[in-house]
Amino acid sequence: MIIASNLKTNLTREKTISYIMDVEKFLDDTNCEQEVFVFPAMSSLNLHFGKTIQGAQNAYATKNGAFTGEIGTEQLEEFKIKTILIGHSERRHILGETQKSIIKKFNFYKNLGFKIIYCVGEPLEVREEGIDVMMKYLELQYDGIDVNYKNLIIAYEPVWAIGTGLTPTLKDISNIHLKLKEKSSAPLLYGGSVKVDTAKDILESDGVDGVLVGSGALDVENFCIMIQTAQNIETA
Ligand code: 13P
Repeated sequence: MIIASNLKTNLTREKTISYIMDVEKFLDDTNCEQEVFVFPAMSSLNLHFGKTIQGAQNAYATKNGAFTGEIGTEQLEEFKIKTILIGHSERRHILGETQKSIIKKFNFYKNLGFKIIYCVGEPLEVREEGIDVMMKYLELQYDGIDVNYKNLIIAYEPVWAIGTGLTPTLKDISNIHLKLKEKSSAPLLYGGSVKVDTAKDILESDGVDGVLVGSGALDVENFCIMIQTAQNIETA
């Protein structure tokens, strides 16, 4: 399974190094064979060799240039980063990224062979309109995206579940995942208020290939427990 920690705008460089080293030690000690990703804050990126895959939370569709506040592939290459999150709801809804700019970024990083974790998800007002409206909304987020890209992972993260402690029911997660799987056979993660004590049920749900965790993974011990949980499910 795929277990990913999105550290967002949290942890210093020093704390991030220690976080990733703790995950690495856990993977070595336990021989867990899950695919583990950590997405540090931009200023906490480091050169890392090990089982944990370090990814960028964001980057601009450029090698370098005059894009104040952004980073490009020149900066990612320094840390051997070949994985990126694209379309996260915080970038769509807080930072104002449009589907058009997201498609441009997706194609740029796809052409470079990056592993892309592409996020989709609906806000509460859309969900309240019912399943048909909601699926149409999610479909628009697949517009212009190569769903057959071999290095693609998709994450379904309902906007209203992110950082709120709310989650869809397990039945809803399965239903939506199975519908989204008709659009792409890429591995499909669930994200949105996954916690150490809810990870097992979510990971066991039909159509769920892993989790993308924010606040629930800030404590590295909890993150490691989630990795172990995935391992236990796979080897049961
Ligand atoms: P939370 O786990 O804090 O809800 O965040 C989820 C998320 O946005 C992961 O990308």
